[in-house]
This record gives sequence, structure tokens and C-alpha cells, in this order.
Amino acid sequence: MSNRSRGPRYFVEGGAVLNGAVRVSGAKNHVLAAMCASLLTDEDLILTNVPDISDVDSLGELLVSLGATVERPEAGKLRLNARDVRVFEAPTDLISENRASFQVMGPLVARHGFAASAPPGGDVIGQRPIDVHLSGFEAMGATVSRDGERYVARAPGGGLVGTRVFMDYPSVSGTQNVMMAATLARGRTTIVNAATEPEVQALCLLLNAMGARISGIGSQLLDVEGVPSLHGATARIMPDRIEAGTFAIAAAMTGGDVRIHDAPLDVMDALFTKLRAAGARIEVGEGVLRVSCGGHLRAVSFQALPYPGLATDLHAPMASLLTQAAGVSIIHERVFDNRMLYVGELRKMGAEIVSTGSSAIVSGPTVLHGATVRALDVRAGAAVMLAALVAQGRTVIEEIGHLDRGYEQLDSKLRALGVTVERT
Ligand code: EPU
Repeated sequence: MSNRSRGPRYFVEGGAVLNGAVRVSGAKNHVLAAMCASLLTDEDLILTNVPDISDVDSLGELLVSLGATVERPEAGKLRLNARDVRVFEAPTDLISENRASFQVMGPLVARHGFAASAPPGGDVIGQRPIDVHLSGFEAMGATVSRDGERYVARAPGGGLVGTRVFMDYPSVSGTQNVMMAATLARGRTTIVNAATEPEVQALCLLLNAMGARISGIGSQLLDVEGVPSLHGATARIMPDRIEAGTFAIAAAMTGGDVRIHDAPLDVMDALFTKLRAAGARIEVGEGVLRVSCGGHLRAVSFQALPYPGLATDLHAPMASLLTQAAGVSIIHERVFDNRMLYVGELRKMGAEIVSTGSSAIVSGPTVLHGATVRALDVRAGAAVMLAALVAQGRTVIEEIGHLDRGYEQLDSKLRALGVTVERT
């Protein structure tokens, strides 16, 4: 493969000790769902603290292709309006860009009675079915059929009808999709075994600000009292707990001292517990998280779980840290069935890590060395970036488009903390 076809790359000099301050950007998985929520109303939805990441751009393009307007009046702000949406079918090339885009289905079928889409794209981190989305729509009276590669959902004449929906798995985007559809259904929908992730909670609050009537927020039992229409709102996107966690891990594993501003401190307990167990110092102040590590890291084992367990999106970055910890750490991935793409890349850098199905065993500490590695998904990319920080010599990271999907200005944020990193 030529360099050209590999796209931009990061060149990272190892041996950095991260010091200083960094500000966390808005959360990818909140903003993407919020953008889909704009389809539920004729009025403007204004979002602030919007991260400049490529997933926002590709979902914005998708909304425009449906007839919505998506404007960025200033950096960090989006104004979305779905008054003129006349197309109810998501174009396959855009739906395949990211997984969140399937969340246009719920709003479209609830408001317009029809929605069609190919299965969504996103990282290849497991089978990622969408059965709970579809069975939720069906429970509310929609008929869902398959037309070639497209799923087609049609609401009955009088619209969707509230009901009791059991989620076979507490899927994050499944809960969000069904919940958005339920806001405009007739009567009450109760979602049993709902996902409780902070981004789901944030979407509930946004929908309520738009006039929805959702209660049970943060619990596994969500009640949605349907309303005839929703109105516009202005909402601030919550800070990204995964980005905050990535910087916290980076600070600890480089033996640095970093103040992380705007970290969503209330939703990061699982990570704090594991980082402390590994020997890092975590101090929580007014809106600021300070992470430092003066001594040696110790092995810790963990499971990646639905919230409030340790986030699957921090699994790979934590594995990178554990290559620097003394002892054997055992990792169990309990959310996705293919989150181990990073393992081979870390091995190229000298890590002693093996994976068996959904588990990984890391022995440390190992001296990592610079190598040419790939960012195979957003979080596998974060893992190799973190490994590059402590490696001896220079690491070249290819396919960094994956990092651009979820991390705003990763290179300049790292540079401000003392890392020598270039993007070509
Ligand atoms: N699942 C089902 N049936 C379904 C849907 C999901 O069995 O209908 C299973 C999946 O197979 C998987 C598990 O449920 O094993 C979790 O999937 P979920 O649907 O909860 O994940 P998602 O909504 O596709 C979101 C985030 C992910 C994050 C997960 C888990 C967005 C756009 N993506 O994905 O974020 O890892 O929740 O917290 O919100 C990332 O940011 O790197 C990322 C992948």
C-alpha cells in the first residue's frame, strides 16, 4: 500500500512525561445522538460544546442529505433544523460512516411514519447487531421489513403507540433510538433494561428540554410519556468521559502530572478505582481532575462492562498502561466481541500481551520500542498512541482517520502536555 493511500499519519517521539493542563472536549457519543434528535422537531436545535471530530461531520452530511440544515455559526456550535426534511431514507455511503447514524431511524419513523436505512457502519469491534432497535420499533406498532440491504420501518396510520419494551441487551444506541421514537408515540412507553450510560442520560435531558416527558433517567427503567410534538432547545454537549479517561491514563503511564479541565468527574468512578489500584494519584477538585504518578505502576485486572462499570472504550487505552505495570493483568471484555484489534499492534511495539477470545493477559513492565502501527479503530488508535508516548524511539501511527473520528485535536493537546508529535 502506498503512503498516499494510507492517508495522514502521526509521528510520535517516545519518552515524554506529560505535564500541564488539558481541556476535555464535548462527548462524541452524546453529540451524535443529539444531532439525530434534531429530526424530532421543526424548530432549531442548538448544540454548544460540539467537538470538532469527523463523526460529527459525517453525521451532519447525512442529516443534510435528508433535507435538514446543519450550520456551524461559530466554532463549537451547531444549529440544526429539520423543518424541510423530505427524504426518509439514509444514504448507504453515509450511514456506513458511523454507527450513531442508525439513530435517525427512530425519529424519522416516529415523526414521518417511514424510515429506511442500511445497517450502520462504525468500528469493526464485534457483530454489533441492531435487533433491539428494530424490535423496539415493532413493539410500538411499526412494521419492519428487509428490502435488499435496507431495513424499512413503517408506522401504522395513527403513528407509533406506546407500550412496554424489553431490551434484550441494554444497548446504548438501541435505547436512544427507541426512546426518541417513543417521545412522539401515543401513550406511555416503558423501556425495561435500558442502557444507563451518561450519554443516554444526557440525551434524556435534551429530549425533555425539547418537551419530551421522560422519567427514570439514569435507571434501567425509562418511562416515556408520548407528546404530540417537540420544540427547539439549546443544549450543551457533556464533556467526553472517554477522552478525559484517555488523558488520565496517559498521565499515569508516563509518570506525569496533568490537570484535566472539564472532566465529567461524577461518571468516572470505575476508571479512578483502577488507576488508583495501579498506583496513580487521582485528585478531584472543582471541575478539575489531577492525575499523577510518581512511582512504579502495579498490575490490575479489570472487566469492561456497561456503565457504571469500566467503559469498553477505555479497555484498549488501559491495556496500554498495563504494559508498564509490574505483574500480570487480566482483562475481560464483556461488551463487544472483537475489541482486541489493538493487541497485535501493541505486540509490534514489544508488549507482552496475548488475547484469547474476549480476554487479554498483559505481563509487565515491558520496554516498548517505536514501530509502524495502525489505528485500527478509535480506541485501538488511542492505545497505540499511548504506547508510543512511553516507547523508545519514534512510532509511526497509520490510519489515524479512526482517531479523528473521536478525538478533537489530539496532536495539539498532546503537544501542549510536552509530547513531540507531528501529523503529516
Ligand atoms: N447489541 C445487541 N443487540 C443490539 C444492539 C447491541 O446484542 O441490537 C450488543 C452488541 O453486540 C454489543 C453490545 O450490545 O455487544 C453493546 O452495543 P451497544 O449497542 O450498547 O453499543 P453502540 O450503541 O453500538 C455505543 C457507543 C460505543 C460504545 C458502546 C458501549 C455510540 C455512537 N457508540 O455503541 O462507542 O463503545 O455504546 O458503551 O454511541 C466508541 O466511542 O469508540 C464507541 C465504539
